[in-house]
Amino acid sequence: MSEPSSSPPSRRPIGVFDSGVGGLTVVRAVRRALPGEDVVYLGDTARVPYGSKSPRTVERYSLACQRFLLDRDVKLVLIACNTASATALPALREASPVPVIGAVEPGADSALAATRNKRIGVIGTLATVRSGAYEAAIAARDPSATVTALACPLLVPLAEEGWVDDEIALAVARRYLSTLLARDPAIDTLVLGCTHYPLLAGVLERAARELAGRPVTIVDSASAMAEWARRALDARHENRRGAPGTLACFATDTSRLDELAPRFLGEPLDVFDLVDL
Ligand code: DGL
Repeated sequence: MSEPSSSPPSRRPIGVFDSGVGGLTVVRAVRRALPGEDVVYLGDTARVPYGSKSPRTVERYSLACQRFLLDRDVKLVLIACNTASATALPALREASPVPVIGAVEPGADSALAATRNKRIGVIGTLATVRSGAYEAAIAARDPSATVTALACPLLVPLAEEGWVDDEIALAVARRYLSTLLARDPAIDTLVLGCTHYPLLAGVLERAARELAGRPVTIVDSASAMAEWARRALDARHENRRGAPGTLACFATDTSRLDELAPRFLGEPLDVFDLVDL
């Protein structure tokens, strides 16, 4: 655990980490919801992807990422990576003196708020789906809800390639969602349980609507996390208002960052500092 900090909590930054650059979708949502907050972001780009790795490895990598953020005196840790949230949240909370918010619980809350018939679909990486974390989080909140989860590994490279709204993206979305909807044709809410999927929300929404023959509500855990962060800071009177906050970005490898990062952040971003964990 880190030593207690001497700076007032409101002045300290929010820490966000991810396996790579996809977590910038969470930074984008946080900067929109909490514009006065400083944010420190770490992308473990040297070790991405986490989604195909074992829970032990993901936990080990995630603890190193969190340690880096705690050493920068953050007041709150956001685990932007759904895979890390699904497999390492208890260990990360145990190791942190500040609150830690993962992607799964906010996503579960939003899904339950959105669904009308309690039939929820979840898509994510292989590791997220294997963990059963969304099923557990939703069952803990409402045992009468039904969750059907499917790993969609091709969606991460598509989002990174920027192929997010063309016929290839739509064909891949249709292929995955036809499998999901065959398992539960009544799904009315689909959780995007991965950092990269908000970029594909348009094609996923369209494919789901066509296949189901009715609208399917898309829930994006990035916005839900930002809302949780706002509430956590409000409850502790640790929020910062006023001038726009700063963004400091770190990565464990800098290859392709200049091309990929703005795609996920939704604004220009030129400086990433290279770090070794
Ligand atoms: N950040 C990961 C997630 O949200 C996707 C990329 C990876 O597999 O590392 O699950």
